[in-house]
Amino acid sequence: MFGKQACGRVLRKPNIGRETFTMKIISMRHSGINVSCSVRKVTFLALCVLAVQINSASLRRSQASPKSNTLRQVAEARHILMGTAAAPRYLDEADYSAILGSEFSELEPENQMKFQMIHPRPDSDANPYDFKPADVLVDFAQSHNMLLRGHTLVWHNQIPDWVKQGHYTEPQLATILKNHIDSVVAHYASKVYAWDVVNEAFKDDGTMRDTIWCNQPGIGAGKGTQYIEQALRWAHTADPKAKLFYNDYDAEVVNKKSDAVYAMAKDFKKRGVPLDGIGFQTHVTLQFDNPATLASYAANLERFAKLGLELHITELDIRLADSSAASLMAQAKLYGEITTLCVQQPACNLIQTWGFTDEHSWISRQYKGMGWALLWDDKYQKKPAYDAVQDALAK
Ligand code: XIL
Repeated sequence: MFGKQACGRVLRKPNIGRETFTMKIISMRHSGINVSCSVRKVTFLALCVLAVQINSASLRRSQASPKSNTLRQVAEARHILMGTAAAPRYLDEADYSAILGSEFSELEPENQMKFQMIHPRPDSDANPYDFKPADVLVDFAQSHNMLLRGHTLVWHNQIPDWVKQGHYTEPQLATILKNHIDSVVAHYASKVYAWDVVNEAFKDDGTMRDTIWCNQPGIGAGKGTQYIEQALRWAHTADPKAKLFYNDYDAEVVNKKSDAVYAMAKDFKKRGVPLDGIGFQTHVTLQFDNPATLASYAANLERFAKLGLELHITELDIRLADSSAASLMAQAKLYGEITTLCVQQPACNLIQTWGFTDEHSWISRQYKGMGWALLWDDKYQKKPAYDAVQDALAK
């Protein structure tokens, strides 16, 4: 005969399989358990049965139809973060913030953490930094349980005039950059989980890009990748917990640029320079969709993975010359294939698109005549590319 303890014992075993749990309760009910338990317990049991049944029904539904899941949910099951670049000025648009907060598990300020935006005045000024716009995104990320990626500490673009036109000497420039990295990384310590510390430092031929930070006058002229190492070390000191990335474009496949990034990464790993991962921007066109290119992307990811690095797809967009149904389908196919590359590579744990709605994409400003590069159209309708990414994550 089942007594009170028996009721309690079954109920205290939440870790038994869902089906077993349901069957146990049902068989108890058939063997008279509802007679021996108090009315309140029976009601409780009935509610349990109902809850378990609803639960397993929704489980079955979600297995049968991943369509009802957000990108974030399907990516999570793969241990991949689904991210996007975002801008605070669009958060007032209901569609924008609803999609951002539900479909993505990670975000990165598209511009607000760049030197020009975040450090617009010299250090001699009483108030050299403007953290507010990026802080708005930090708040949004935190209140939607999203991780935040920082972009970018050292880049040749979007630098303020006070730096560009300051005619600083090498030691002065080193002080400026160190202060910048210290202050920005410290401000976001424990809020930003990963930083693009250095962005786009190589030319297509694999040589160092000539920039104000590298050699004009730079802080490491003639010393190869030493200024990148220096920036990584400063960032690591400012927040030892943040993951530190080198990020670049057109280094997705095996080519001269990715060879140079690889050689640097290998050297850094060997010498214990704090480099945790590589960001592959992946701003591409439909021409990227051919077997040799995709195979080369996979091979490239694999060689970086073998160095023990994390791999992030950081700025994915696929620009089109028109929005015909054929182009949108071709775009969807390529989105799916690139997503699959990440799914199949264990070291790849972030797929981040460069924005998510065609309404606010940088593409039409940057590439005349091109556009339609993202997963939602300019009216916030999901495009075929959305389904392709979702399917590739769910497969
Ligand atoms: C772009 C932004 O999307 C634009 O809004 C801005 O005007 C210029 O920069 N590689 C990068 C990004 O690392 O920071 C760039 O973002 C796109 C190319």
